[in-house]
Amino acid sequence: MKICIVGAGFVGLATGVMFGKLGHEIVCADIDESRVNAVNSGKSPFFEPPLEKELSRLVKRSRLSATTDVVRAASEGETIFLCVQTPSLPSGRIDLHPLKSASKTVGRAIKRCKDYKVVVVKSTVVPSTTDAIVLPILEKSSGKKAGNGFGLAMNPEFLQEGSALKDSMQPSRIVIGALDKRSGDILAKLYAPLKAEKVRTDMRTAEMIKYASNAFLATKISYANEIANMCVRFGIDSESVLAAAGMDPRIGRLFLRPGLGFGGSCLPKDVKALRDKARSEGFSSRLLSTILAINEAQPSEAVSMLESAIGALRGKRIAVLGLAFKGGVDDIRETRALPLIETLRSKGAAVVAYDPMAARSFARAMPDLEFASSAAKCLKGVDGAIVQADWEEFRRLGRTEFSSMRTPVIVDGRRCLDPDRIRKAGARYLGIGYGAAR
Ligand code: UGA
Repeated sequence: MKICIVGAGFVGLATGVMFGKLGHEIVCADIDESRVNAVNSGKSPFFEPPLEKELSRLVKRSRLSATTDVVRAASEGETIFLCVQTPSLPSGRIDLHPLKSASKTVGRAIKRCKDYKVVVVKSTVVPSTTDAIVLPILEKSSGKKAGNGFGLAMNPEFLQEGSALKDSMQPSRIVIGALDKRSGDILAKLYAPLKAEKVRTDMRTAEMIKYASNAFLATKISYANEIANMCVRFGIDSESVLAAAGMDPRIGRLFLRPGLGFGGSCLPKDVKALRDKARSEGFSSRLLSTILAINEAQPSEAVSMLESAIGALRGKRIAVLGLAFKGGVDDIRETRALPLIETLRSKGAAVVAYDPMAARSFARAMPDLEFASSAAKCLKGVDGAIVQADWEEFRRLGRTEFSSMRTPVIVDGRRCLDPDRIRKAGARYLGIGYGAAR
C-alpha cells in the first residue's frame, strides 16, 4: 500500500520506517525543507541510530521518500497518517495549529482524488480533538463526508525516544480508534503483521488511552521520587525499597527510577494537557497537579544534596554532566538540566556543562553557559558535579577524572552510576534517594 505520513518528526519517521519495513511504499510530507532534504539523503533529522540505519536502507531502495508538497503526498497515499507536533502552550493546552493546517491540506488532497482514503491521527491530542476538530476541517476542505467519502481513525503511538524503531516493530499494544468499521478494518490490516494485541475502540477512547498511559508513567516517576526523597532522610537506599516494591506485579519494576524528574517532549506536555482538558470540563485534577509539583521540585533536591556536602554554593564551580532530557538522545525539550542550572546559578554557583550530543541545541537555550568538550574536561577543577542525564559514558568515569576535581563530590541525579566504583575511585557519592550515603 502507498502510505503518506504528514510530519517527518520523531513519530512520523518511526511510523514511516516501520511500515516501510513491512513492505509498504512511504511518502513523508513536511513543510520543513531541511528535514525533507535530510530524509531524502537517508539521514534522520534527530539522533536515533537504528532508525537512521533502516531509513537510509529504505531511501536507497526507493521505498521511502520525502517532499514538501503535502497535497501531492496526501493525494498519492491510500492511508494518511497525521504525525504533526502538538506542542504545549503556556496554559498547558496543546497548540493545534499544525494539526489544523495539516488537516486542511489533506482535505484538499482528498477533494481532488476519487479513491477512498483513511486519515489517521497519530499526533497526541486530547479527547474529542479528532471528531470535533479534525473531522469538520477535513469535511469542509474536502467537500466529502467522513465515514463515507473518506475514513477517519485515531491511532496513538507509545514509542520512547532512543528505542523508536524497536518500539514501533514490537509495540506493547496497538490502539485503533475508528470512526467507522471500514477505517478500523483497513488500519487493523495494515498492522496485522505485528504481533501485538489490537485494541479496537472509538476515537475519543483511543485519544484518552494515550493520556492515561503517559499520566501513569509520570505518576510512577513522581511516586518514585517522593519515596526516594523520604528514604534519603530516613537513611535508607531507595533503590532496594523501590526494587522490592516493584516486584509486586500490581506495582511493576519499570519507571520507578528516582531522579531529577521527567523531561522530554511528551510526559510533561501530556500531563499538563490532560489537566487543562479536565479543567475545561470543570474537573480539577489534584493528582496531576501533585505529579507536576513533585517533578518541579526534584532539581532542588539534588542541589540541596550538593550543598549538604560542600556547603554554600556562592563562588563555587559546579559541573553538570548531561543536558539532554535523558541519556542516549540529543533532545533537550523540557530537560531538567535547565531548572537545575538555573537553581545552581541562583545560588551563586558558576556552572560548566557537558553533553555528548545535546550541547549545541542547549547552547541556543542558554547561550551564556560554559561548555566543556568532554566529561573529563568538565570535571577539572570543579567543587562538585551533578549527573543530569544517564549517558553510558558517565558510568566509566574513574580516578583520573575525579582526581582533577577540586572537591570530588558526585551527585547522581539519575541513579545511573555505581556508588562503590565512585568511592573506590576516590570520590564521594551522593545519589537521589541514596540515604545510606548521608
Ligand atoms: C515517553 C513514554 O515513555 C513513551 O511510552 C511515550 O510513547 C512517549 O513519551 C510519547 O508520548 O511519545 P520519552 O519521551 O521517550 O517516552 O521518554 P521516557 O523514556 O519516558 O523518559 C521521560 C523522562 O522520565 C526522562 O527525563 C527520564 O529520565 C525520566 N525517567 C524515566 C525517570 O526519571 N525515571 C524513570 O524510571 C523513567
